Amino acid sequence: MSIKGLATYDMDRDYYHNLEQGPRFTGEIPPWKTQPAFPFLGHTLNSPLGIPAGLLLDSKWIKLYAQLGYDILVYKTVRSRQYPVHPWPNCLFVRTPMLSPRDLPHRVVAPRNWEPPSPRQVTITNSFGMPSLEPPDWQEDVERALDHLRKGQVIIVSGVGTFEDSEERLVQDFVRVSSMIKETGVPVVELNFSCPNTAEGEGVIYTDPPLAGRIAREVRKVLEDTPVLIKVGLLLGRELKGLMKALAPWVQGIVGINSVSLSVVDEGGQPALGPERTTSGVCGWAIRQCGLAFAKEALAIKEVEKYDLAICGCGGVTHPSHVEEYLNLGVQAVFTCTGAMFNPYLALEYKGVVGSSAVPV
Ligand SMILES: Cc1cc2nc3c(=O)[nH]c(=O)nc-3n(C[C@H](O)[C@H](O)[C@H](O)COP(=O)(O)O)c2cc1C
Repeated sequence: MSIKGLATYDMDRDYYHNLEQGPRFTGEIPPWKTQPAFPFLGHTLNSPLGIPAGLLLDSKWIKLYAQLGYDILVYKTVRSRQYPVHPWPNCLFVRTPMLSPRDLPHRVVAPRNWEPPSPRQVTITNSFGMPSLEPPDWQEDVERALDHLRKGQVIIVSGVGTFEDSEERLVQDFVRVSSMIKETGVPVVELNFSCPNTAEGEGVIYTDPPLAGRIAREVRKVLEDTPVLIKVGLLLGRELKGLMKALAPWVQGIVGINSVSLSVVDEGGQPALGPERTTSGVCGWAIRQCGLAFAKEALAIKEVEKYDLAICGCGGVTHPSHVEEYLNLGVQAVFTCTGAMFNPYLALEYKGVVGSSAVPV
């Protein structure tokens, strides 16, 4: 089978097809025992492995990936209003060596008619622009998703404010969407400060510590004691330190990294997603060193500054050994998005329920 054919998200079809018909999965779901033993934001989980915001488009996706042994399930980012998706295509394979966090290339190539050699080595660009259903529709669906959890699993819903014309209105919209998420009864809220695929102000909040801190403070007021995670992009050094200082008084954790925003071109050097989208997020295998560098620095800052923050590692996890690599740094949780899209058995492989023979190479 082609590598594309292994994915639960059908890259050849649009987002609405995947929302309505997905996830694409015909494999067996082997039995596995819940063994809650890992503390995470007041919960005890079967494992510290989860899916970050993105792949779990709705409750059907949550149901499948919960059955497949992922214990932290983040519902794809929602908004306080209906919002359109970017036009198809939304995912393309990218051919690149491992990216170095301190020396990112100016551009990467997404060749047409090319596939990576194995699901362990998949790098893609994704570009959705954070679409959203009307709030009552996603709220009802989140309530359905809560029914699919097993013991030792937790659901988080990711939300984002929509930038219109002022920072003040953006802050208020973050407050609005956070309250809507809380109404569903989910125990943890995540705020996306880092979408690499939106031209507007909401995608780069993580590079603006005063704004990030202001949003976090206002959201904290309405969420009371519901834990909040902040999703951030690749940031290192002084910038990361400044961001963590702004967030630490208000939130319980940081999830990094989001896809790395790069110029993605076809073999002829033209924007691979069309002239309207010259940059997009790159994720999967090639960003692992970026994710690890972020986690290492965030953990060091946390220790020196004595911040009470859960640091959650994300980026490039396509093999069980990559989960260990992040955990060995000291992160509280590890997320895999592209890895779990092309190898849904990754969690059960990590737990030793299925062998690596379950993964086509
Ligand atoms: C199909 C897809 C959709 C995504 N959508 C979102 C999103 O809605 N919100 C968000 O915070 N991150 C989103 N992401 C980014 C992932 O959460 C994650 O940060 C990124 O893919 C890096 O992890 P990975 O290398 O394991 O894929 C998306 C990623 C993919 C592949």
